[in-house]
Amino acid sequence: MKVNITGNIEDIRAVWMEGKTVQMLEQRLLPHRLEIFTARTVDEVCYSISDMVVRGAPAIGVTAAYGMALAILTGEDKEASAAKLKATRPTAYDLFHAVDHMIEKLSSGVDAVSAAEEYADAIVEKCRLIGEYGEPLIPDGGTVLTHCNAGALATVDYGTALAPIRAAHNKGKKIFVYADETRPRLQGAALTSWELVQEGIDHAIIVDNAAGHYMFRKEIDLCIVGADRITASGDFANKIGTYEKAVVAKENDIPFYVAAPVSTFDFSLASGSDIPIEERSQDEVRIVNDKLICHEDAKARNPAFDVTPARFVKGFITEIGVLAPDELERLKGC
Ligand code: MRU
Repeated sequence: MKVNITGNIEDIRAVWMEGKTVQMLEQRLLPHRLEIFTARTVDEVCYSISDMVVRGAPAIGVTAAYGMALAILTGEDKEASAAKLKATRPTAYDLFHAVDHMIEKLSSGVDAVSAAEEYADAIVEKCRLIGEYGEPLIPDGGTVLTHCNAGALATVDYGTALAPIRAAHNKGKKIFVYADETRPRLQGAALTSWELVQEGIDHAIIVDNAAGHYMFRKEIDLCIVGADRITASGDFANKIGTYEKAVVAKENDIPFYVAAPVSTFDFSLASGSDIPIEERSQDEVRIVNDKLICHEDAKARNPAFDVTPARFVKGFITEIGVLAPDELERLKGC
């Protein structure tokens, strides 16, 4: 991703490996500070995922792949490291896919760092292809709604939902993006908008409850979101609030697309009700900017994701093309 660092445009990734460390952009500090977080142990890599220094399904997967390489470099137990990494967050399938991929590679005797680098490069290339396949869906002059952050920060580079948007912009199309702010962690306001500013893509942040208003007024031409886990039926989990955006889109005849690499598809699950949904601390809801926003005795619920049934999805934008929900079989074995 192109980032303006004190006046210089630099091309950086969201996560990378340097010597015996895993380095990543400290996403909890964006958009105010651009800092690098360094993990030197598998436990520190686990912390970076569970505390959301790094987040977004494909980026979590790559971080875990690097975590496995770090385990080998630092002499930590391979199986114990895999188990610890898999326990960090339950919903994003890329995490499990990446750790299993690394275990398979390591047991075939390949170099751990090279295997992790190959995994990261492959994800980046898949996201670039998602951009290529998704770009024609965005009309010149079109307005796109996206939810959460499914950009380069969430995928190492390019993004999933943001990849077609980037590609359309780079092709010279005049587009406008509505970015849902995405309570409670504000990935849309803090991260998606930051990425769009870096790329010079015209956009506005809207509060999560404003999307229906703009869809009803036909000010949104299409929706593109990412996914954390997609089942064999095409039901998928994504950031909390996705489901209601999809329902309102269908009600208003607005096409709703899900952009994700094949590493996000979990064909072992038949339907969305099988997806484990992470519930995070109630204080993410109760406290804003270090200030309690409710009565101190008030409880909150904080599911990080929801499930959207396949019937609300017009197409899945993947690295092999755009597929309807009833065509997902074609991805098996990719
Ligand atoms: O809790 P997060 O920030 O990890 O959730 C991220 C999302 O829900 C993204 O939309 C999803 O991972 C797709 S990222 C390309």
